[in-house]
Amino acid sequence: MGDNTADLIRSNSVSKPFNDLLAERLTRRDVLRGSAAAGALAVAPGFVGSVFEGKAYAAGTASSLGFTELKRVYDETHHVAPGFKAQVLARWGDRVLPGAPEFDPEKQTPEAQGQQFGYNNDFVAFLPLPLGSNSSENGLLFVNHEYPNPHVMFPGLIAKEDEAGKTMSKEQVDIGMASMGHSVVEIVKKDGAWQILTDSRFNRRITSFTPMLISGPAVGHKMMQTKADPDGARVIGTGANCGGGVTPWGTVLSCEEFPYSYFGGDPAKTDQADHIKRIGMESEDYYGIARFYEQYDVEKEPNELNRWQWVVEVDPYDPASVPVKRTALGRMGHEGATVVVNKDNRIVVYMGDDDYFEYLFRFVTDGAYDPANREANKSLLDKGTLSVARFDVDGTLVWLPLIHGVGPLTAANGFADQGEVVIKCRQAADKLGATPMDRPEDFETNPVTGRVYAIMTKNKKRKADNLNPVNSRPENKWGHIIELIPPGESKDADHAATSYKWDILMLCGDPTKPEHGARFHPGTSADGWFVTPDNLCFDAKGRMWIATDGQNDFELADGIFGVDTDGPGRGLPKALFAGPTGAEVTGPCFTPDGKTLFVSVQHPGENSETIEKLSTRWPDFKDGMPPRPAVVAIMREDGGEIGG
Ligand code: FEO
Ligand code: CA
Ligand code: CA
Ligand code: CA
Repeated sequence: MGDNTADLIRSNSVSKPFNDLLAERLTRRDVLRGSAAAGALAVAPGFVGSVFEGKAYAAGTASSLGFTELKRVYDETHHVAPGFKAQVLARWGDRVLPGAPEFDPEKQTPEAQGQQFGYNNDFVAFLPLPLGSNSSENGLLFVNHEYPNPHVMFPGLIAKEDEAGKTMSKEQVDIGMASMGHSVVEIVKKDGAWQILTDSRFNRRITSFTPMLISGPAVGHKMMQTKADPDGARVIGTGANCGGGVTPWGTVLSCEEFPYSYFGGDPAKTDQADHIKRIGMESEDYYGIARFYEQYDVEKEPNELNRWQWVVEVDPYDPASVPVKRTALGRMGHEGATVVVNKDNRIVVYMGDDDYFEYLFRFVTDGAYDPANREANKSLLDKGTLSVARFDVDGTLVWLPLIHGVGPLTAANGFADQGEVVIKCRQAADKLGATPMDRPEDFETNPVTGRVYAIMTKNKKRKADNLNPVNSRPENKWGHIIELIPPGESKDADHAATSYKWDILMLCGDPTKPEHGARFHPGTSADGWFVTPDNLCFDAKGRMWIATDGQNDFELADGIFGVDTDGPGRGLPKALFAGPTGAEVTGPCFTPDGKTLFVSVQHPGENSETIEKLSTRWPDFKDGMPPRPAVVAIMREDGGEIGG
């Protein structure tokens, strides 16, 4: 804990009404800049106004990205900018394990699905082979599978999206459970194309049926104990695997986001009603699982839900390894868990809690990363300090530590020990006065500058009377990207510091519609602006690549956009890729040479009413074949770096 933590907690500026702070700041800014300067921020009707100082964008259209952008398009297939190719590499149902049967949607079984590529691919990591090498032509593709889409998966199941779970057979429920988790496949690049090595010893499926361990402060805690696991140390399965990150020792951090959709029963009838409500679960059983599995019914086993919504560490280089749920990183609707090695070699993990008015978190390990001791690194994430972000109106960001016994995190306030602090992480952050955000998704460090970027995807529930310094648009349907600036630059940035500065990189929306209040570089084209950002990654030159989730609501394709964060092209996005109708695009991930960008096309055709009325049969377009989520490899036709 920092020595001035108690002062920081006491000085919580969000206790002051935000509109008072806004008025103070706008008045000060008008005095400093003159009223003409304030006009540059395109304040529109219904747009209360942003309080960020907003680093000015440069004149001109000088993006560092050397490609002709994709024209805006939205139809039943994918598209890529001129001069690029997009190879469909791994589809739902493709063979992962050597004995896996050929995919046949009419004859799908849980056993087959457990050996085949899962559904709704999300986060993607490329891990070079051999371990420790920098290969860009041979590696392991690690893919998260977030959730099934029963209404477009099973030819025999004719049901609308929110009703399918009620009518699924046990076999269909089991297929859904086997379709979640992770796929690991070895891939090689030959003659400019990627292929899966189906006989690789590394290939693996991890599903909702895979045993895993629990570690960190919540292991053994009474809130983690169940009838099947009285020790509170082992759990069967993972699910809702959304974003993630890669550690420098070659493991993957996979994020469990909203697994409460798999749970049924009435939380109000349990002894944890308030806690489960704060987690966000209502009586859902969206995928019909609780009808067949007692542990997923909160009335029968209220603690099982506490064993989900963690960051899971998986070692793809060891196919026999047991995944571990790392509870020191806190429990939330985990979106991403991206890792940076701090200048003192401690490991820092940035994490977003993707729900309305939830928070941004950071974990700093106690121990230092040792490149020569892989086994020791594997327990680094069990000990350290979890903090939550408070954004102040003066442009300061303060990291508030979640430590049992410090400030309000006491037994009297419902936190008996550190285990209870991490299990009730959201309630602990509430007590500390963290800043409620517009649905935090991915959160990642620019490897060149050391600055960190957090994506707020959108928040239609934000109203004019609950704005705050970094979430300044009411009914924010478009999302925005926040820049976090630790002390120091590049490799000297201190990602363990108590205070940072913050700014806004972009306010998303249609720049031609003043009511959106969008703010991009003025050189942004009609094809380049975007809304609802979700995931991001960086190339080795420090350019940001953003994947969107939600543009379909605006009759636009979700896609991939590249943007500079510095220099003359700061805040000037360019369109690279568009997905098919119904799909979000996610998981962007580069090979080390920057010549392949892997992207996930998730839930194509999800907007179909039923499987009889499909909006697309992407990517196969064969009669009888449902749409298939797939990972796509984007490359330049000339073999060069994606961003040029
Ligand atoms: Fe699974 Fe926050 O997206
Ligand atoms: Ca996401
Ligand atoms: Ca990312
Ligand atoms: Ca999303």
